[in-house]
Amino acid sequence: MKIILLGYMGSGKTTVGKALASELKLPFLDLDAFIEEKEKLSIGAIFKEKGEVYFRKKESNYLKDLISNEDFFVLALGGGTPCYANNMGVINNSNAKSFYLKGSIQTLVDRALLGKDRRPLIAEIDNEKLPEFIAKHLFERKNEYEKADVIISINHKTTEEVVKEISSNLS
Ligand code: S3P
Repeated sequence: MKIILLGYMGSGKTTVGKALASELKLPFLDLDAFIEEKEKLSIGAIFKEKGEVYFRKKESNYLKDLISNEDFFVLALGGGTPCYANNMGVINNSNAKSFYLKGSIQTLVDRALLGKDRRPLIAEIDNEKLPEFIAKHLFERKNEYEKADVIISINHKTTEEVVKEISSNLS
């Protein structure tokens, strides 16, 4: 079984992915962590030293590698992965089941504030400008996110509740 979690920064892809993988006894893979390991650089350093275009090319190549070389996993994507290089086409043409962890602007702003510093796309944005930035960014991205097989709302839900909802949509 191949399960792919996607959604905006802070939607809980990694936290939910780890809990889901442990419940289903599947390996957990995190695309950002995989890129960092292969490139031997943090995501922040890749953006800074090599630029976003380089990051997007690597992100797409490593996504294809993981989807075609591994048979069992829960894979958490980066927030932008579905929106570049026909990655959503690759996902939908594979035998993976994809889940969009969908949050309201307010939920995403609250969560983004917590992990802002390690996210190069929002690290430099003033906190008071974050709601407008996220609203616009999400509007640009949501068409790709909504191509996922299943959409799960994350608002006011615990990790366990989201895991349960994904599990009940697996068969
Ligand atoms: C990005 C999200 C990040 C990471 C990179 C770009 C994006 O992943 O891939 O900073 O374009 O939304 P998370 O969603 O895990 O923060």
